[in-house]
Amino acid sequence: MHESLPFDETDVRVSTGQLPSLLEVEQFLHEAYVHYRDDDGGAVADYIPALAEVDPSLFGACITGAAGLFTEVGDAHHPFSIQSVSKAFVFALVCDALGHMEVLDKVGVNGTGLPFNSVMAIELNDDRTMNPMVNAGAMATTSLVPGETVEAKWAYVQDGLSRFAGRRLEVDEDVYASETATNLRNQGIAHLLDGYGRMYADPDESTDIYTRQCSLLVTAHDLAVMGATLANGGINPVTGERAVSTPTCKRVLAVLATAGLYERSGEWLYEIGIPGKSGVSGGIVAIAPGKGAIGVFSPKLDEAGNSVRGQKLVKNLSQRLGLNLFASAPTGFTGALAEPN
Ligand code: DON
Repeated sequence: MHESLPFDETDVRVSTGQLPSLLEVEQFLHEAYVHYRDDDGGAVADYIPALAEVDPSLFGACITGAAGLFTEVGDAHHPFSIQSVSKAFVFALVCDALGHMEVLDKVGVNGTGLPFNSVMAIELNDDRTMNPMVNAGAMATTSLVPGETVEAKWAYVQDGLSRFAGRRLEVDEDVYASETATNLRNQGIAHLLDGYGRMYADPDESTDIYTRQCSLLVTAHDLAVMGATLANGGINPVTGERAVSTPTCKRVLAVLATAGLYERSGEWLYEIGIPGKSGVSGGIVAIAPGKGAIGVFSPKLDEAGNSVRGQKLVKNLSQRLGLNLFASAPTGFTGALAEPN
């Protein structure tokens, strides 16, 4: 299962199509936005004090195609801290730098089925870290970021995520300070992993870089561009700059499909059928390989920490835009030897 393929992976064919016309995408996005605008379900995250201060009514979304065209609605340019959505892109950078087999070995890629900050998930699994989308695996991943010093590692993360966004991303210093003052659980997880030999740099420094990466300010527009870069074989479709290699993208998307929405990942894939990643500030990125990505921001969350309106909007658009990777239509053939109808 884990042996290398006997040919160059960059030559493999792909199984993807195209988005509908920009006009249709625009219309469906607008309709979905209006439909969910007054949905009041969920609650804003407050375990990071700075996040509790956000206006819960904010709601914005953007769709960026793999060719760089985009359309957006509502508060698509309102900045918020990226939080766990960063895990997808830092994993992409580390997977790219180390090779996908090394991260498979050092971090793992199977879902935990448990909440994002679960300590039980570490204790219950012999490999300790299970995947890079929950806090334990994400901090282990951040500990693998190349660089001799903390600042060099941080620059690698900030530069890399900025390449995905196509603009310089900066830290929200209030969110960073607020989380740094309250993230004892993450510090504990990092030390626990270190005890098990599953942190690959100093646990406190790695927790600090992880906290900074979570505090980077983005917008729904940025998330759509970042996702579209993963949908476009690693090249940012707006700037034309390569963020990561093409084979890295399919690995990142595979991990998102199994673990991007934590213990709700199965339901997400069942209902929506494309890889996605959520964060506690209310951002979600959903990626349709070869087609593009949806970035959405709405701060009220379900109990698993996923944006309520964000999930509904993506579910609606996945259906209307034909994004579900598992959907097919009958070909019209009735049997192997029959003529088409
Ligand atoms: O580590 C934390 O708890 C936060 N910086 C990020 C958690 C998060 O976004 C979970 N997502 N839904």
